[in-house]
Amino acid sequence: MKVMVVGGGGREHAIIRKLKENKKIEQIFALPGNGGMHKDATLVNIGAKDIDAIVKFATENKIDYAVVAPDDPLVLGCVNALNEVGIPAFGPTKEAAIIEGSKVFSKNLMKKYGIPTASYEVFSDAQKALDFIKTAPIPTVIKADGLALGKGVIIALTREEAEDAIKSVMTDKKFGASGDNIVIEEFLEGPEVSVLAFTDGNCVKPMVSSMDHKRALDGDKGLNTGGMGTIAPNPYYTEKIAEECMKKIFLPTIEAMKKEGREFRGCLYFGLMLTKDGPKVIEYNCRFGDPETQVVLPLLESDLFEIMQATTNGTLSECEVEFADKNACCVIMASKGYPEKYQSGFEMVIPEDIEKDVYVAGAKYENGKIYSAGGRVLGVTDIGSTLKGAIDGAYAKVEKIKFDNAFYRHDIGGRALLATEEK
Ligand code: AMP
Ligand code: GLY
Repeated sequence: MKVMVVGGGGREHAIIRKLKENKKIEQIFALPGNGGMHKDATLVNIGAKDIDAIVKFATENKIDYAVVAPDDPLVLGCVNALNEVGIPAFGPTKEAAIIEGSKVFSKNLMKKYGIPTASYEVFSDAQKALDFIKTAPIPTVIKADGLALGKGVIIALTREEAEDAIKSVMTDKKFGASGDNIVIEEFLEGPEVSVLAFTDGNCVKPMVSSMDHKRALDGDKGLNTGGMGTIAPNPYYTEKIAEECMKKIFLPTIEAMKKEGREFRGCLYFGLMLTKDGPKVIEYNCRFGDPETQVVLPLLESDLFEIMQATTNGTLSECEVEFADKNACCVIMASKGYPEKYQSGFEMVIPEDIEKDVYVAGAKYENGKIYSAGGRVLGVTDIGSTLKGAIDGAYAKVEKIKFDNAFYRHDIGGRALLATEEK
């Protein structure tokens, strides 16, 4: 079979590696992929947002199955467009992808169906938002409605910061039309957990839990990034909490989407906060997380391709989704300066013995060499029988990788380790 994966980061590299374990798959195309994946996939120079070109390529090359990984093409209707020409695809339709594409939609959905989340107000008028903030509890959280490359959330610690945030998002349009509407919500506190779940619209099978590290620098300092590292499982996410989440969050969300006529198939990402009043939804994503995928999929013992097809066919309840009883840690190596300005084009040397544990997020391949290209450059994963073992293993591999201008956090998994030791 011929499979194509839309997207080009570390998450897509982890998906491709796992798909390769299925012997029915003869060839995998990555659109556009990146130079660091050249040994695992055939790279096709088509951007992930170019829906027409993606569909044309899939038709001309008789693709049997497509995996649409990033949020942008999903929200733009890539799965709809592929289905229209008869190509089955993993991921939600654009009608269902709105759960990530519009924060106003997802907040209203949670309110309507009683799914626990931070209390909130929606504003389409900057002045009304500014008036509201005069008496709102501080800190407060301001979110642009639409996709904003993970940067549309501002935690305002003072009233002035909240006012500045409203002005920059609504008046100055820092995130373009994504900021036409905003959500102002209650500031929640507690450990954060990412839970990715496979669903066929009726049945939901959560994957092993994980913990992201969003800030750029050690000690959770610095700017928010796409994610600087992950561990799995998340020690805060106990079996009891998992049961509560299934009952109060996962199943009600799947049911709610069905009732709204927006049946969700694919991977639904639940960003949760474990507050003193119980688990609450911070955000939904309509896709695998990055770099959560780089710790979750290496622990998957079942066949990813079969699971993906089961989500498309509506047969997930009959499909095995099992994870190893082990721990994983992924450390992201980025370019100095990320998430702001950074330089690319530095030669990367990855020793052959650890290549299989490296998921490349941004690289160019030229004359047999790979060069850094992008903010997040690669992720290095290790699996261990203990969390400490996985963390030490990942950092030992990081030490072996060389490229100029690299930086990474030194404390990935540190907080999780404390939680494990406290138990
Ligand atoms: P998001 O882009 O929705 O994932 O938000 C980015 C980060 O902002 C989350 O991972 C949380 O750390 C934080 N955040 C979002 N909403 C809230 C909230 N209501 N209270 C506290 N922190 C939040
Ligand atoms: N790591 C967070 C995300 O994928 O949205």
